Amino acid sequence: MGKSLGAEMSDRIWPKEGWTRVPFWVYTDPDVYQRELDLFFYGPSWNYVALDCEIPQIGSYKRSWIGERQVVVVRGEGGRVHVWENRCAHRGARLCWKNKGREESFTCPYHQWNFALDGTLQGVPLKRGVLKKGGMPADFDNVDHGLTPLRVHVEGGSIWASFRLDGPSFEEYSGSQVLANMRRLFSGRKLKLLGYSRQRIPSNWKLYFENLKDPYHATLLHSFLITFGLWRADTQSETLPEISGHSIMVSRNVGRKAGDANPELTRAKDSLLLHDVDTVTPRPEFEDGKVVAVTHFPSVIMHQQANTLGMRHVIPKGVDSFELAWTFFGYEDDDPAMARLRVRHANLYGPAGYVAMEDGEVLSESQNGAHHNDGHSAVVEMGGREIGKQDHMVTEVLIRAFYHHYRQAMGL
Ligand SMILES: [Fe+2]
Repeated sequence: MGKSLGAEMSDRIWPKEGWTRVPFWVYTDPDVYQRELDLFFYGPSWNYVALDCEIPQIGSYKRSWIGERQVVVVRGEGGRVHVWENRCAHRGARLCWKNKGREESFTCPYHQWNFALDGTLQGVPLKRGVLKKGGMPADFDNVDHGLTPLRVHVEGGSIWASFRLDGPSFEEYSGSQVLANMRRLFSGRKLKLLGYSRQRIPSNWKLYFENLKDPYHATLLHSFLITFGLWRADTQSETLPEISGHSIMVSRNVGRKAGDANPELTRAKDSLLLHDVDTVTPRPEFEDGKVVAVTHFPSVIMHQQANTLGMRHVIPKGVDSFELAWTFFGYEDDDPAMARLRVRHANLYGPAGYVAMEDGEVLSESQNGAHHNDGHSAVVEMGGREIGKQDHMVTEVLIRAFYHHYRQAMGL
């Protein structure tokens, strides 16, 4: 698990107000960051790595990330999914340099050690030497030199991996509420890959999770949402904090237009007209009528927004930067009109759309504000100082619940 509670961190003291404050050093301290990687990503957590539909055939693979470590997700013999670390068992070089593809086996470019789809070592060039000189010792056994395997769980078409072979099961780790909400999207209905986008956001990775635990900002920052009736401050909603770090944000998209907005919602820009109304007109789906965003700590946000469905994979790149890898999907049995809506709404919400662009911008500004400000803290008191289920969106309760969990886990 790397460094235990480092001496470096022992002088870090959480503000006396507790979970209603977030000290800015959690976003900037490299020792805190290293401990997060060891504890959360490389520890007993389950991390999202791919969708089943991305690796359809035997030998299909996808390169993925858990924290800053690279893994490869491969469909092996018999259709079984393997995940192994992208690090040659010989000298540590990366075996796989492409994000996606199909191979019969994997060969390290350095000394051409060759590994089967499941990560076992199959071939070592010049293993017996040349002209009876050199080669591996006689007792060198390939079986002892496979790639580092991860534990794998497939949940209704989503693939998860854990570095800890003896940790909790995926079900235990996720908890019943998160599982139930995940299974709305991953019910076993066959998934269809619609596309990818990637963006680099110059902020600490946790700020992104906080953004998806923060319904308060949605109508204030994203005036587009209220202008076109996709979200309002009085939208019926629920926030379900989990002490595990996961959370669930539920709203009921009533599709009211700006004209119905109550008088306090003055940010609606009535004069704006959109020529293409399909972009802001979701078709009802899911019998419960809910719109749900599930944050599965520490690796992914599973979103359903209008008709777009997606995995937002959070890949930390140092204490003050992360990559957000979006995978958009639908279902194989979607009719053509729905398939088209999913892509249109992906454009609306994705990195170049009207929503994520604004989030990326404010997160980088929050990061700037945190730098060189160890003595200051963020205030998260909206919706009261307590932690519990709430039935409105004017709240920061999910952020408080997250930091309650975080402090316990980090020993802070
Ligand atoms: Fe946002």
